[in-house]
Amino acid sequence: MQVRMVATTPFTDQKPGTSGLRKRVQAFRQPHYLENFVQSIFDTIAAPPGAVLVLGGDGRYYNREAIQVILRMAAANGFGRVLVGRGGILSTPAASCVIRKYQTYGGIILSASHNPGGPDGDFGIKYNTANGGPAPEKITEAIYAASKTIAQYRIADAPDDAPEIELDVLGDSRLGDMTVSVIDQVSDYAELMESLFDFAAIRAMLAQGFRIKFDAMHAVTGPYAREIFVNRLGAPADSVMNATPLPDFGGGHPDPNLTYAHELVEILYGDNAPDFGAASDGDGDRNMILGRHFFVTPSDSLAIIAANAHRVTGYQQGLAGIARSMPTSAAADRVAAALGIPCYETPTGWKFFGNLMDAGKVTLCGEESFGTGSDHIREKDGLWAVLFWLNILAARQQSVEDIVREHWARFGRNVYSRHDYEGIPSDAANGVMKLLHERFAELQACPEQGRGGAQFGRLQVKLCDDFSYADPVDGSISTGQGVRIIFTDGSRIVFRLSGTGTEGATLRIYLESYEPDVSNHHLDAQQALATLIGIALEISELRKRTGRERPTVIT
Ligand code: G1P
Ligand code: ZN
Repeated sequence: MQVRMVATTPFTDQKPGTSGLRKRVQAFRQPHYLENFVQSIFDTIAAPPGAVLVLGGDGRYYNREAIQVILRMAAANGFGRVLVGRGGILSTPAASCVIRKYQTYGGIILSASHNPGGPDGDFGIKYNTANGGPAPEKITEAIYAASKTIAQYRIADAPDDAPEIELDVLGDSRLGDMTVSVIDQVSDYAELMESLFDFAAIRAMLAQGFRIKFDAMHAVTGPYAREIFVNRLGAPADSVMNATPLPDFGGGHPDPNLTYAHELVEILYGDNAPDFGAASDGDGDRNMILGRHFFVTPSDSLAIIAANAHRVTGYQQGLAGIARSMPTSAAADRVAAALGIPCYETPTGWKFFGNLMDAGKVTLCGEESFGTGSDHIREKDGLWAVLFWLNILAARQQSVEDIVREHWARFGRNVYSRHDYEGIPSDAANGVMKLLHERFAELQACPEQGRGGAQFGRLQVKLCDDFSYADPVDGSISTGQGVRIIFTDGSRIVFRLSGTGTEGATLRIYLESYEPDVSNHHLDAQQALATLIGIALEISELRKRTGRERPTVIT
């Protein structure tokens, strides 16, 4: 095997965001772009010679080409073995599962999650550490720093007789001193799921005629969903739709929410709707849960999973604690309080949950952005959440809607919505955030001047700040994680700029209020939050500054 040192110059824009480096496919295709970033990862992690790596992606356009390059670079950088999902495909949760199961040094996941794919779409790459979770900020920062000074990368030349490494046949092949092991990505993951949930009870429920529909959105979960729902749980084959992963996700936007998963939503809200519906995203870590004519808000889903965990096989021993990202509603906090366990509030992004899980402080984690998971792996996990719900449904023998309404009756309802303004000019978005900071003083109470917090109708501001987090395990501090305006009755508005977009800026506004009164629980969230929405638009001057009349996505 011939190893080449290739001279290169840095790119200035290889800063990982909320979840790895995401760019247009065209950006990744620039000469040396992918190689520079991969070498920056290898230089940062300094794996010992012979280390084992996991490699796979969500199957989006450019996945296969990138895997060929990364394998040759891994060989040239001294790795001993790389475990690759068949066809180069691994869902994000399956990658986490495999890293943990085979105790590898780490893994590289190729995905831009829910962002559209195809030649004009997005591509992404992120590094996960030995615990199976996304690299923490200190590593992603070091990778970025390395990318700014890189001068060369190492790559092995492909042998003339085998220019492409075989990815479609299970088993081992050699690349110089390194072994490439193509593994069956579905079976390890399905086995883990079987160890956590009562498959027999779910199978019996399905056999009694309980109907489910899972939308894989032409993305990575199709083969996993078929194996689990159809082969292992006995659901009819048409219970899984859009089940073949396509490099461009069928031209769609593989994000499981009411806007982008409309095909599924129409089925669940149509005549003769199934009892349960669910969808997952491009790389399989997100989930959306639907009942017949009913949508479960992700924040509620986390709370309901926590409140019912004692009914589910793998969680019967109890929960150590719960963690949620700051913008996620406080519904889970109420369950944690009732269970007498801690609830942690972290910045947005799954990487902040890893330390808490490793330290045994939390069992369940969740984000309002359709992410839920537990310490069975170190990523959020779409199919896990779906199975958790099916297990609860099998144990309770009630409809999704009844379960949610009973939950609200017991704990009260944290009415919740998120409004996204996507693709706005960065200047306008930064201007809104700056304005909000400047307004902190006038919005907050000033005891010296004998003035209370600003009053908006019956709502009074209690506090505003830019969220910062001190990790209770390693003490690291993360600042600037979102502007919060909290009112005296506990309602709040949060403003945050997305860290995963690839074009312009995306401003997210998170809205939450608490409604203890059951007679108001039937209200539509947008109706119930109308006053808060008005306040958010007023204090941010959003319409004037962006020229946008309404959000592009409401979840
Ligand atoms: C978004 C979500 C965040 C999630 C991330 C990766 O990040 O808001 O909760 O962890 O995608 O799936 P954002 O674009 O807001 O930075
Ligand atoms: Zn994802």
